[in-house]
Amino acid sequence: MTDRFSLKGRVALVTGASRGLGFAMAEALAEHGSTVVLNARDEVSLRDAAAKLGAEHLAFDVTDTRQCQDALAKIVADHGKLDILVNNAGIQHRRPLIDWEDADFDRVIAVNLSACFRLARDAARIMLPNKYGRIINTGSVAAILGRPTIHAYAAAKAGLHGLTRSMAAEIGRHGVTVNAIAPGYFATELNTALLEDKAFTQWVESRTPAGRWAKPAELGGAVVFLASDAASYVNGHVLAVDGGLSVSL
Ligand SMILES: NC(=O)c1ccc[n+]([C@@H]2O[C@H](COP(=O)([O-])OP(=O)(O)OC[C@H]3O[C@@H](n4cnc5c(N)ncnc54)[C@H](OP(=O)(O)O)[C@@H]3O)[C@@H](O)[C@H]2O)c1
Repeated sequence: MTDRFSLKGRVALVTGASRGLGFAMAEALAEHGSTVVLNARDEVSLRDAAAKLGAEHLAFDVTDTRQCQDALAKIVADHGKLDILVNNAGIQHRRPLIDWEDADFDRVIAVNLSACFRLARDAARIMLPNKYGRIINTGSVAAILGRPTIHAYAAAKAGLHGLTRSMAAEIGRHGVTVNAIAPGYFATELNTALLEDKAFTQWVESRTPAGRWAKPAELGGAVVFLASDAASYVNGHVLAVDGGLSVSL
């Protein structure tokens, strides 16, 4: 039987993969046979993370278009192609609305939305001539449900869900699919402040039908599915991996 979930022979780039959800998704892709290139800014932690997977790494800032284009060119020079882009690098900034600085809003949008657009566009320039590609964006339940203080993050993630659909509508016929994953509450460094807050953890446990925070490895199945031939007709979809949070009150 052919394994429709096998990623053997595929080449993937995962941004923001030195820890957290990016690392977990890179690990899952590698386990299913893909060659994986991990990205983040800090070279030391990135190298250690890549070594754990026997994977490659390229340190660059996703908000720097030139660095992104150089990285994509290096992947093509080394491997002849790029099959899978996981646009995952993301940051958070929490402040009451009236305390927000313009620069902080712009910084979050730059990483969580604008960089995803540019990397997807430049990856599509590689994928379209090959008639094959998988672009997977890490969205969020925060794109679907409102929460206080995370204004730029919510705007960026809602934008990313929209961008997922517009790109899917345009390039689907060329064998390139564009989908997003919308995680719920995962225990990662991004959520350190929330994890340290007992009342918040109790709220997550009671509010989420699954009754707990998620572990990063629990995102692996979704990214492997969307990256694989098994998802060949799944395009423009936002796959919630949130323990049921976004469908319950
Ligand atoms: N954790 C959750 O519950 C949750 C829920 C929904 C969505 N998400 C989304 O999932 C993604 C990953 O989140 P996480 O929780 O795993 O966060 P995390 O643990 O803070 O990891 C973020 C990763 O992104 C990298 N990064 C940050 N800015 C970057 C930049 N400008 N260029 C390149 N890499 C950059 C970081 O490494 P360096 O600092 O070394 O660059 C790190 O590898 C984000 O898009 C986040 O919004 C998370």
